[in-house]
Amino acid sequence: MKIQSVRGVKDILPGESEKWQWVERMARNVFCRYGFREIRLPIFEKTQLFARSIGETTDIVEKEMYTFTDRSGEQITLRPEGTASVVRAYIQHKLYNPPGVLKLYYQGPMFRYERPQAGRFRQFYQIGVEALGTENPLIDFEVMTMLIEFFRLLGLDDLELQINSLGCSRCRPGYRDTLKSEIRKHLNVLCENCCARYERNPLRVLDCKVETDQEIARHLPKTIENLCTECEENFTRIRAMLDGTGVPYSINPQMVRGLDYYTRTTFEVVSKKLGAQNALCGGGRYDTLVEEFDGPATPCFGFAVGMDRLLSVIPFEKMDGTDIEVRPDVFLVALGDPAAEVSFRLAHQLRSEGLAVEMDYDRGSLKSQMRKANKANSLFTLILGENEIQAGKYLLKDMETGTQTEIAADTLSQTVKNSLRRKADAPLSTD
Ligand code: HAM
Repeated sequence: MKIQSVRGVKDILPGESEKWQWVERMARNVFCRYGFREIRLPIFEKTQLFARSIGETTDIVEKEMYTFTDRSGEQITLRPEGTASVVRAYIQHKLYNPPGVLKLYYQGPMFRYERPQAGRFRQFYQIGVEALGTENPLIDFEVMTMLIEFFRLLGLDDLELQINSLGCSRCRPGYRDTLKSEIRKHLNVLCENCCARYERNPLRVLDCKVETDQEIARHLPKTIENLCTECEENFTRIRAMLDGTGVPYSINPQMVRGLDYYTRTTFEVVSKKLGAQNALCGGGRYDTLVEEFDGPATPCFGFAVGMDRLLSVIPFEKMDGTDIEVRPDVFLVALGDPAAEVSFRLAHQLRSEGLAVEMDYDRGSLKSQMRKANKANSLFTLILGENEIQAGKYLLKDMETGTQTEIAADTLSQTVKNSLRRKADAPLSTD
């Protein structure tokens, strides 16, 4: 029996993986310019970390975690997200010393036992950032602007930034009570899920996906109508900064996010090109989480981009592909045994000098080797026959223009490098 991969997970194959690497490079590039540095986090953590940070009554903790008991009896969970691990590492390694703003980014697989569908997987990939150590709304603005800049560099222009404010520990409790008592009036019609959890997590009723509930939710009190003065001022400042720089956004007062740690600003970036799972990215402020895990009071702001969804909306078809494709610089075509001997040595030499070299290990006819060079999409082929070896001269063929040049064996690598440089500098052909 052929064993297939598990439902909801996928392989990222060559052809596709180059696109992922390119997006990751672009992300690193942009994030580094804004002062973020990479943190590499474990794939699994103690279950308690996620249960307490994401929230016991969230969908993730209630029904989506991959949890198991390890051989020493410890409850372990495959990480469903990265923020909790960043907070744990921040406290564990005392990253709050020296004091200041710490900007971190991370990337990698996350795991949630959700019902698989387009854009929703059980193993999916995120690239995320967290800025720890300031409650200045400038950081909310800067991080959201950085994200928009990243998306713009990837050629995405039809995105929508939606923002909301969820208030703080001063205004949220009063709002929750008001919301609960309003929800109680609709318990006879709300879905089973909302009825079951509204006492413990009333905010989730606001973004319930059941259509009839949505109609009710539209009329329930919203967080932004119940903010304390500080939260109100904070939200006004962020909106003014976005307005001032012309970043388009809308306020979505029903966006509460599926994780409980948020305070004040929350946001999502949605794409019209995606179906039901249209959020490319989600994030926001979480000012109390570090303290809840016995760290020093540390206000934080961050986001995570869903890479699988992101990759599905980037207009790769409109790009020329030069930065994305991986192609050999030279394909060695060897004719006859002595030439094959030389070509193996040559391949090693050229590679050690930094060139990407391919060859035909099964050494077919000239025609079949040239076909393989074409298929490998190599920039040049180097043809080595017995005559060429004796004469100490090889034929270098430019696979795009078809031009053939005779080059001396002892100047080979330099000539190939020069030819590559000229090709890279040449203007793109217009036909
Ligand atoms: P999240 O909204 O749960 O936030 O996930 C962020 C993004 O991950 C989503 O917008 C979506 O693109 C992607 N995503 C989530 N679940 C799946 C799935 N099953 N399949 C494919 N993509 C998925 C967080 O995880 C927070 N830690 C973000 C954050 C960082 N907040 C503050 N800092």
